[in-house]
Amino acid sequence: MHPNIEVEVAGLVLRSPLMVASGVLGSSGSLIRLVSTNPYVGAVVTKTVTYRPRTGFENPTVVDLGYGLLNAMGLPNPGYSNYRVELESVRRGLEIPLIVSIGPSDENEAEEMVKELDNVSDGFEVNLSCPHVENLGIEVGADASRVRGIVKAVRGSTGKPVLVKISPNVTDFVTNARTAVEAGADAITAINTVRGMAIDVNAMRPILSNIYGGLSGKAVHPVAVRIVFELYEKIKKPVVGCGGVYDWRGAVELILAGATAVQVGSAIAHSQSGLKVFNEIGEGVRRYLSLKGFSSVKQIVGLAHLEH
Ligand SMILES: Cc1cc2nc3c(=O)[nH]c(=O)nc-3n(C[C@H](O)[C@H](O)[C@H](O)COP(=O)(O)O)c2cc1C
Repeated sequence: MHPNIEVEVAGLVLRSPLMVASGVLGSSGSLIRLVSTNPYVGAVVTKTVTYRPRTGFENPTVVDLGYGLLNAMGLPNPGYSNYRVELESVRRGLEIPLIVSIGPSDENEAEEMVKELDNVSDGFEVNLSCPHVENLGIEVGADASRVRGIVKAVRGSTGKPVLVKISPNVTDFVTNARTAVEAGADAITAINTVRGMAIDVNAMRPILSNIYGGLSGKAVHPVAVRIVFELYEKIKKPVVGCGGVYDWRGAVELILAGATAVQVGSAIAHSQSGLKVFNEIGEGVRRYLSLKGFSSVKQIVGLAHLEH
């Protein structure tokens, strides 16, 4: 038996449930093209693009903790208008959906960005959860009325699928996700990084130039599993799981918790095999399905819930 690993998320048909998480590859178009040739990559989410160009924070911006990465890049990106030009050529000839991640700080920015990026994307992921940039990300994502306003503006400006990426750094992430769904989100991506900090004990100072950063990788995996599990029961839209997926087991765990698709971020940077990590995860998921007697990955979504 050769189990089918195709899934559908918010109307997008993906040849594999594995997506490239936003940011880890940077904003380079050539890397997007390269990763999209991997048969186990179902979709690529771009680096988050903001209204105005951002240079990002000064180094050091990333600390490798072994069990995860702590980053405060500061959302460096060329701004949506410049990025549109690059995405136009990237999307041409791409075999898989290109999901453009946007980080608007209000509804006016959201509307303008989505209208201009609409014809270079197959869908949007609204990043309302970056934990280390002022007036963007979590500052927006923690405020229900701003979430509502921005998601409504995005919804009203495109007919394409809209994913909203939520933060683990707020107590009431379920309310946030519900607000996003009520405002028109087709799916929720969970999770972004967990706010953290590292101190250099010799220098006796914080390591990151921004002091605080976002923790990703293996360390956050159980947090992602828990949040996906809760969202699966509490919202009526698909959940895209993200956080610490390094191998097939991590991906299967998120799917059993309720994720329809799974994003891979830090593992690309961390794993010895680089982009081949997608082959290892994808082939492992297939083997698992086969051993368990399933013919399709769709059959195991949410199976860890007690009612099954
Ligand atoms: C270096 C780096 C840059 C990131 N940049 C973004 C970004 O631009 N937008 C975003 O929504 N998430 C960003 N993230 C978060 C990831 O997309 C993902 O939500 C998080 O890292 C957890 O998944 P992982 O453990 O597989 O990396 C970034 C993460 C890292 C490590």
